[in-house]
Amino acid sequence: MQKILVTGGLGYIGSHTVVALQEAGFEVVIIDDLSNTDEQVLQGIQKITGILPRFVKMDLRNKTEVSDFFNSNTLDGIIHFAASKAVGESVENPLLYYENNLHSLIYLLQNCVKKQITNFIFSSSCTVYGEPDYLPITENAPIKQAISPYGNTKQISEEILKDTCRASDLQVISLRYFNPIGAHESAEIGELPKGVPQNLVPFITQTAAGIRPSLSVYGDDYPTRDGSCIRDYIHVVDLAKAHVKAIQRLMNHEHQEPYEVFNLGTGKGSSVLEVIRAFENITGQSLKYQIVDRRPGDVVAVYADTSKAAKVLQWKTEQTLEDALASAWKWERRIRNI
Ligand code: WQD
Repeated sequence: MQKILVTGGLGYIGSHTVVALQEAGFEVVIIDDLSNTDEQVLQGIQKITGILPRFVKMDLRNKTEVSDFFNSNTLDGIIHFAASKAVGESVENPLLYYENNLHSLIYLLQNCVKKQITNFIFSSSCTVYGEPDYLPITENAPIKQAISPYGNTKQISEEILKDTCRASDLQVISLRYFNPIGAHESAEIGELPKGVPQNLVPFITQTAAGIRPSLSVYGDDYPTRDGSCIRDYIHVVDLAKAHVKAIQRLMNHEHQEPYEVFNLGTGKGSSVLEVIRAFENITGQSLKYQIVDRRPGDVVAVYADTSKAAKVLQWKTEQTLEDALASAWKWERRIRNI
């Protein structure tokens, strides 16, 4: 059975990807520092697949621990999620982001090269595109000046990966996510935002659950069809399945270049107000929200051209915005016992 290391495998996208990997017949070992999740997620994974993945608690900034792990584990591939990912926090604390996101990647790659582990999937983000010149966005859209240290760490990480591929046998696929939302249909795993949620959908579900008094909509004066920002909201389970396709592509030596990039989105843009309306239609309850000032750093509109992933990975999303919102609401009710 081929063994895959999933760093950040107890996190939101990581845990859904572990489920998809196990269902595809891979053995999974997880490294996570539990800074933004809970060890209980392991039980959630096991409830879905019946397989308890091996878990190693580790801070990937600890170079010795990382090296010791690679000296005692034989791996067929790595999917690297572990990183700090809050845009706002990265503006307040850039050095935490540069240290965590870049040192972790570098120590992993040093060991990949040393141990000749060649199959590496990187969790990137549509944030690297900044404010796009045209829509939908293709993978060869220009990489703009990052609007946050978080986005910059993703851009720098992709450059580090490209250079390492040129200088070694490493083969990398970077997956640029658009906006992951929703939860596994079982409601055994989902997004566990600690503290006040930064992202739209967890804030919506917490408002609907009565945890937040109301939702602030950051601006309705943008040049869009209803004045609110447009994003490409992709069901996290669809996103997880794309990671299995990507690692299989590398392990079956189907890749055309040592370094490949794919956009992972639905190809459909939805505005903030449209998401709110869709949520209200699904739950049958009205959401309390107010329009407030724009949030600094927000791009007006961004959604994916999905043709490359469809053609090359033979992957496209299967679930709709409504499916994702319904699963997010089911998860919220499960964790709040409502
Ligand atoms: C979506 C829209 C907000 C909260 C970020 C990262 C991206 C990825 C996903 C990691 C925007 C509006 C939000 C709220 C609101 N993360 N909004 N009220 O900023 O598109 O992307 O998360 O990879 O890299 O940049 O996602 O959910 O924060 O915002 O009106 O309380 O919802 O203004 O238009 P974003 P988001």
